[in-house]
Amino acid sequence: MPNQMIKQKIIELSNILGEYNYQYFVLDTPSVPDAEYDRIFNDLLQLENAHPSLRSVNSPTQKVGGSVLGKFAQLIHKKPMLSLDNVFETKALKSFMDRAIDKAECSSIAFCIEPKLDGLAASIIYENGILIQAGTRGDGHTGENITENVKTIKNLPLKLRGENIPDYLEVRGEVFMNKTGFNQLNKKLLDAGEKTFVNPRNAAAGSLRLLDAKITAKRPLRFYCYGVGICDGQLENSHFKRFEQLKQWGLPVSCEVKLLSGSEACLDQYQTIEQKRAQLDYDIDGVVYKVDDIVLQEKLGYVSRAPRWATAYKFRAEEAVTIVDNVVFQVGRTGAITPVAKLKPVFVGGVTVSKATLHNLDEINRLGILIGDSVVVRRAGDVIPQIASVLVDKRHLNKTKQIIFPLKCPVCDSALERIEQEATIRCLGGVFCLAQRKEAIKHFASRKALNIDGLGNKLVELLVDHELIKDPAQLFELTVRQIVNLPGMGKVSANNLIHSLQHSKRITLARFLYSLGIREVGEATANNLANYYKDIEKIKSASVEDLQSVSDIGKIVAKHIYCFFNQETNLAMIDHLISLGIHWPVINSIVESELPLSEKTFVITGTFSGMTRNAIKDKLQRLGAKVAGSISKKTDMLIAGEAAGSKLIKAQDLGIEIIDEQALLKLLNK
Ligand code: IVH
Repeated sequence: MPNQMIKQKIIELSNILGEYNYQYFVLDTPSVPDAEYDRIFNDLLQLENAHPSLRSVNSPTQKVGGSVLGKFAQLIHKKPMLSLDNVFETKALKSFMDRAIDKAECSSIAFCIEPKLDGLAASIIYENGILIQAGTRGDGHTGENITENVKTIKNLPLKLRGENIPDYLEVRGEVFMNKTGFNQLNKKLLDAGEKTFVNPRNAAAGSLRLLDAKITAKRPLRFYCYGVGICDGQLENSHFKRFEQLKQWGLPVSCEVKLLSGSEACLDQYQTIEQKRAQLDYDIDGVVYKVDDIVLQEKLGYVSRAPRWATAYKFRAEEAVTIVDNVVFQVGRTGAITPVAKLKPVFVGGVTVSKATLHNLDEINRLGILIGDSVVVRRAGDVIPQIASVLVDKRHLNKTKQIIFPLKCPVCDSALERIEQEATIRCLGGVFCLAQRKEAIKHFASRKALNIDGLGNKLVELLVDHELIKDPAQLFELTVRQIVNLPGMGKVSANNLIHSLQHSKRITLARFLYSLGIREVGEATANNLANYYKDIEKIKSASVEDLQSVSDIGKIVAKHIYCFFNQETNLAMIDHLISLGIHWPVINSIVESELPLSEKTFVITGTFSGMTRNAIKDKLQRLGAKVAGSISKKTDMLIAGEAAGSKLIKAQDLGIEIIDEQALLKLLNK
């Protein structure tokens, strides 16, 4: 056969398989028996093997995984990948729907109602209809490039089909493992004497993070879209209709997605999906309600990291009864002593649970729990198992004993402190406490912080126990010789660790701030701090008051940050890290000075009908303004809502310009 004809045949067979896949995975109506599919697949494979130069990288045969990676590269989401707010009862769901209806200024609106898939979020980019990139959600801004692994997902096309395909299309959705596939995989692992996965979610996460996509290809991963990220094509103005568009292009969407209006029908849908839950071949942990009209979605906007136009109504957590065998006391990164109940292992919410947090002394007292008690354990999603209640009727007095809270740190013997009005009891040992030191280093190396490959919790414990490191900075002074003989190590892993330590030195300022483990400074706060100050020197010298100008930072968090940067040991450690080569790109501040409200300082007081104070603060800051916590001579303008008090009086005294909500809206629109 001449080459041209072979090429034509290959295209023809690829298209036939593409259509069969579409009918099977998207329309859920297989049009041919498996044997017929396999026959055409093998024909195509044979032709491609005989003429490798004619094989397209997007051929349906190419779901086998490419070369092995050393590490996942990072990628930045052009539009942040957000999270969802949760509700746990009908009343809260009704309020969510009512708020959206109010905003729409009509009596009823449509909601797109979807199962909340229990997997991992992914962003997948198609350029000219070809899958070119896939990333994990990561911290919402920066994820990991998992293109090779995602390309092996069977129900996801490498090439889109149909008409009017956008030049650029980013679909977002959930990667998961179906229950049947999960059970088969675990059986195979068990037969091979390998470690099994505890649930489909963990199996999906593990499979997606394999550096060898050839192994991922053998894992039964699936993908369902739940939305569109960036797209330069013509999209429908309805979330539901967008799903129809995605489906026409060959992209899979769950069959359980419904478009409904009227609060009764919408609320009933929760029950309908809950009743179907056990029959579905994939795990779901709730029902997602989304305002269908995209224009209305935009009008409703976002708060912090979640949209106001969507919410997840989570299923009730699963519960089981077991016995408290013992209570131990763990010392956390910030010295907090956490009582942990050791339980008789019990299967709940898809995993075997053998411990549950008791949080603090108040919780022990509230539950009235004793060692030996029968308890109800509750577990939802990834949340740490909780003890919901004690079954006092089942208590045998001769088999139970009191829980004695320690008077000194169980690890370093230092004194404990309980600050008034705080529930937590803390060890005062600081960096002298071995437990705190270990936890701080584990946090520093963790995925959302420096993400040091090959440095897991166990290895950190070993390094500290062998007195090879005392703080995070000393990690970068380790040598292969020092670590090569540690249990479980060898030449290869020692070299790899030193290599990945070198690699992790370049990060973002936000990640660096997060990695320091400052109390109450999670990813979001670290991001806000980095975006606001752009320079660590400015954070070091910021006052508690200054710090409160940052979006979402209140007095308590500001104090924690201030205290951290005013402790000699911490400053020395930061300097040490920088001297060892930790660095981050300088955030450009030229754009900032061009913003309309830059160099203006605002104070906000009172309550507002259309926006929360935090939302106003956020909007002003986006326009370049500083928002301070109290009035001073430096204040340019006070925004006064209803029931404004002392700040209003002080502003009047100092002759500072005062505006109300109406004027604020005008200012923001301008
Ligand atoms: S929408 C802007 N829809 O839940 C809204 N998320 O808790 C972004 N998830 O990160 C999310 N099923 O990984 C959406 N039908 C669904 C979902 C869904 C599962 C996950 C997703 C997201 C997380 C938020």
